[in-house]
Amino acid sequence: AQAAGPAVRRLADWSAADLADLADEYGTPLYVTDLDRVRENATRLRAAFDADTDDVDVRYAVKAHTGRAVLETVRESGLGAECASAGEVVRALDAGYDSVQYTAVNPPAEDLDVVLDRWRDGAEVTIVAGARDTVTRLRERGFDGRLAIRVNPGVGAGHHEKVTTGGHAKFGVPYDRAAALVDDARADFDVVGIHAHAGSGISGDDLEAHRELVSRMGDLARSVGPLEFVDIGGGFGVPYREADAPLDLDAVADATKDALGPVDATLAVEPGRYVVADAGVLLTRVNTVKPVDDEGSTGSVPVVAGVDAGMTTLLRPAMYDAYHAIRNLTDQRPERPVTVAGPVCETADLFCEERPMPAPRRDDLLAIGNAGAYGYEMASTYNSRPRPAEVVLDGDKVRLARERETIAGLTALEVDR
Ligand code: LLP
Repeated sequence: AQAAGPAVRRLADWSAADLADLADEYGTPLYVTDLDRVRENATRLRAAFDADTDDVDVRYAVKAHTGRAVLETVRESGLGAECASAGEVVRALDAGYDSVQYTAVNPPAEDLDVVLDRWRDGAEVTIVAGARDTVTRLRERGFDGRLAIRVNPGVGAGHHEKVTTGGHAKFGVPYDRAAALVDDARADFDVVGIHAHAGSGISGDDLEAHRELVSRMGDLARSVGPLEFVDIGGGFGVPYREADAPLDLDAVADATKDALGPVDATLAVEPGRYVVADAGVLLTRVNTVKPVDDEGSTGSVPVVAGVDAGMTTLLRPAMYDAYHAIRNLTDQRPERPVTVAGPVCETADLFCEERPMPAPRRDDLLAIGNAGAYGYEMASTYNSRPRPAEVVLDGDKVRLARERETIAGLTALEVDR
């Protein structure tokens, strides 16, 4: 298969004029998601892993972006669906999937009930259990379908401590107990796979940890007997800084196959971020410009640019100190150190601190890059801020994908108004 599009789409590659038109028409803050880029990323993933010819299954980790248009696009691009909750399972099925994976992390009873209802209705659901207790609860509910066991591989990786999963007791059954659980479960379920996930945002530097995880999974697969798949998780990183090199996906794919060794099972991977991150930008408008030192409003004095998006719109900088590229679409001016700050009453509500960029003025439009993954998904209504709108681009077509939430909508669930 032919790799599609460049390995990374930088913020500079988006047309400033087109983005400005979208902001004018739909308002800000606004998420913009380009479905063509989603297709390219999905195609590049399948190509890197030779999914057309080899025994490899690429499943999209739905949690990165659950929008209907994205799910449909990903499905049409040949990726499966890996879901983390009943809500994600229902959304994937609604988007046309007839087969989904549900990776259950401490699943609430309601989630199990909803998912099993769908399974009884005929949806093919593979449930990945990360605890013996989860297996027991599935048995109690009469599930006897496709089951996989999530293993804590004892090795983790990721862009931040808070997104490293491997090695954390919360996720998976201890590696040295996994074979016994697979064995027990075979009595009551169709045990189809084993699963592990190192963490999110794996870079070239994490390749050794990745190899270690995959090689342990290969060993486990060979020791437990027939399986349909070995799922080694997702986590493939994308460059957030303009200067960062893209992950060499072909090298990751080769290292993965090499480390897995010979197994009589499909290799499954479940990337989320890689599929959607650079397919999205967040547009936000400057409303306040404030020199840090009010006397020194010129030259190199740092300036705070207040914008209409905040940590409630895009949480990643506040939660993980994540870097996102920011571009002033309106004008080119001399650079100053700029702190881009949201409207939320929290000190953490910053998109960058004293970053050199063309000095913004009121009403300038800023674009924040790589907002397609874990952007809208992690938005909240804290400070009673309605969640933003989202438009999708599909070829030369534009359409509203999610309406802007309203202030009236914020109280819609209150019963004593
Ligand atoms: N599979 C499992 C079991 C996972 O827990 C995750 C992510 C993935 C796959 C997909 O990982 P990805 O390919 O997207 O890196 N909110 C954080 C990321 C949390 C990821 C949680 N699990 C962030 O914005 O960086």
